[in-house]
Amino acid sequence: MSSDQKVLEVHDLSVHYFTPGGAVIAANEINLYVKAGEIVGLVGESGCGKTTVAMSILQMVSAPGRIVGGEVRIEGRDIVNLPERELRKIRWRKLALIPQGAMNSLNPVIKIKEQMEDAIIAHERTRGAALREKVLRLLNDVGLPERVYSMYPHELSGGMKQRVCIAMAVALNPAIIIADEPTSALDVVVQRVVAQTLLDVKSRLGVSMVMIGHDMGLQAQMVDRVAVMYAGNLMEVGPVESIFEQPYHPYTRLLIDAIPSTKQKKPLKVTEGLTHDLRNPPPGCCFQFRCPYVHDECRQKRPVLKEMGNDHYVACAQFN
Ligand SMILES: Nc1ncnc2c1ncn2[C@@H]1O[C@H](COP(=O)(O)OP(=O)(O)O)[C@@H](O)[C@H]1O
Ligand SMILES: [Mg+2]
Repeated sequence: MSSDQKVLEVHDLSVHYFTPGGAVIAANEINLYVKAGEIVGLVGESGCGKTTVAMSILQMVSAPGRIVGGEVRIEGRDIVNLPERELRKIRWRKLALIPQGAMNSLNPVIKIKEQMEDAIIAHERTRGAALREKVLRLLNDVGLPERVYSMYPHELSGGMKQRVCIAMAVALNPAIIIADEPTSALDVVVQRVVAQTLLDVKSRLGVSMVMIGHDMGLQAQMVDRVAVMYAGNLMEVGPVESIFEQPYHPYTRLLIDAIPSTKQKKPLKVTEGLTHDLRNPPPGCCFQFRCPYVHDECRQKRPVLKEMGNDHYVACAQFN
C-alpha cells in the first residue's frame, strides 16, 4: 500500500493533559491510518482517549492538552505544528469534524439556513441563489425535507439535528470526516437512521471516515476496519470481519461480548471497574489490572502491536 492512498496517517501520536496533579496520558503512541473511501471505527469505553485522538487529528486539542509526540499526516502532509492560518485551510475543506454532542452545538435561536450558510460563507465564495441551492441540496443529501431550511433547531428531533450536522460536515466536500460518537445520544431506531445517513453520504461522496463509538454492534454494521483503544493505548486493529471472527485481545472480546444479541455466548470473565490512574500508568500492559490472563511478563513489558496476518494487529503478550 503506497502512502498516497492513505488519506490520514497517525504515527506514534501521544497527547498529554498537563493538570496540576500531573500529566494525564490520554493518547500513548497511537498508530492508525485511513485509506481513501474507507471507514475506520475507533472504539473503547468512555475516557479511553477517543475524543482526544479525534481532536488531535484536527489539531484542536483543548488546553491543558498538548500533542507531545508523533505525526498526523493528511494526504501525506504532516500537519502537527502547522501555523493556525494553514490549519484553517485544511479544516472543513480536507478534514471535517462532527463533534461529540454535535446536535447540541447548533444555536437554538438561529434558523438552520443561517447556520449552514454562515458556515459555508466562512470558507468559500458561494452566495445568493447558489448558496440557497447548495444548502437545500445538502439537506436533501442527508434525507431532510426542504422545510427544515427555514426551521429552528428546537423544532427538530435529535436525529434531524444530527443530520443537519452531517450536512454541515460534508458541505465543503472534505477528504475525511471525523465523526465523534455521532449516534450515541440517540434512541436505537434513530441511531440506525443516522448511521445509514452517514453511510449514504460516504458512498455518494467517496469520503473517508473515522467513526468513533463505544458500541461494537453499531461498528460491526458500519465500518471497514476497527481500532480498539484502552486507557490511551491502541490494543487491536484489523478488518471488521477479522475482528469479529477472531478477536485476539481479551479487551476486544469483552467489547464484543457486551453486544446484547451475542450475550448467550459465555462471557469472558474480566475484572470490572477502574482503569489505572492515567497520570501514573503501570509498567507493562495497560490492561493488566482487568485482564483474566495477566502474568508476570504483562507487568513488566509493554506489548507492541504485532501483525497476526490479514492486516490484523494486536498488542498483547500472548502474541508478542
Ligand atoms: N481538559 C482535560 N483535562 C484533563 N484531563 C482530560 C481533559 N480532557 C480529557 N481528559 C482526560 O483524558 C482522558 C481521555 O478523555 P477523552 O479523550 O475525552 O476520552 P473518550 O472520548 O474516549 O471518552 C480521560 O481520562 C479524561 O479524563
Ligand atoms: Mg469522547
